[in-house]
Amino acid sequence: METNLQKRRENKKSLRVKVISLGNAEVGKSCIIKRYCEKRFVAKYLATIGIDYGVTKVQVRDREIKVNIFDMAGHPFFYEVRNEFYKDSQGVILVYDVGQKESFDALDIWLAEMKQEIGSHSNMENIVFTVCANKIDLSKRRVVDESEGRLWAESRGFHYFETSAQSGEGISEMFQAFFSSIADMCENGGRRPVSGVNVGFTREQADTIRRIRSSKDSWDMLGVKPGATREEVNKAYRKLAVLLHPDKCVAPGSEDAFKAVVNARTALLKNIK
Ligand code: GTP
Ligand code: MG
Repeated sequence: METNLQKRRENKKSLRVKVISLGNAEVGKSCIIKRYCEKRFVAKYLATIGIDYGVTKVQVRDREIKVNIFDMAGHPFFYEVRNEFYKDSQGVILVYDVGQKESFDALDIWLAEMKQEIGSHSNMENIVFTVCANKIDLSKRRVVDESEGRLWAESRGFHYFETSAQSGEGISEMFQAFFSSIADMCENGGRRPVSGVNVGFTREQADTIRRIRSSKDSWDMLGVKPGATREEVNKAYRKLAVLLHPDKCVAPGSEDAFKAVVNARTALLKNIK
């Protein structure tokens, strides 16, 4: 009797989860996992062939979690192998190399591949995502800054961590937060808790900052047609200033975006009579 009760308690406390790693080839997916599980770093590049599988046990609060890790190959050649493994994942580690813009831009493509394989958008809502901006030890070659990566991740409700598999920086913090959110999700009946990642800014603010970063000139930045009047420029400026003012907006990169908008308005008004 007592042993049954004990067993049931233990069952309630132990969990089995599946996590996968995604991202372009050579960004450091396998090294991040190796750093966490084996506490070591291998400098030589050994491309993952198709998929690597490993199991680890972690403790989150009073629960023991058995984690099945499927480490995917990033090379397009292995698509046919990895597409089988997207289903039934509770967590996804998305990795890019901060020294390679292309690997950052590819995150959208990885999400699209996953969405296609698991078949329904709603399934994506109940998965914990964590983004690793990896290889931060190579600071001289860095091209994707923190605010850009953080904005991409947090505006989607994903965790964001700056990591280095080489030095170990950020790795255990990333896994701790990741597993803790997965445990929260399991306790929440398999749904990602709404407050999983408390972003504190709106999708509109995030999209506006992204649009400003990629605008081609001052007209484009303010969202007015070339040749617009002073009134139109000021109206567009006021709208953006309210949205992005540093006192109101905590989104990563909002301060730079706000300054850029101020400068764009000044430049345009100089040339409008
Ligand atoms: P695929 O399996 O081909 O998809 O690649 P991957 O994403 O698993 O990359 P992997 O972990 O094999 O690492 C690729 C290369 O980057 C290796 O030479 C690693 O030593 C190196 N590397 C990985 N992480 C870091 C890091 O944080 N800093 C530095 N300096 N090098 C890293
Ligand atoms: Mg690999």
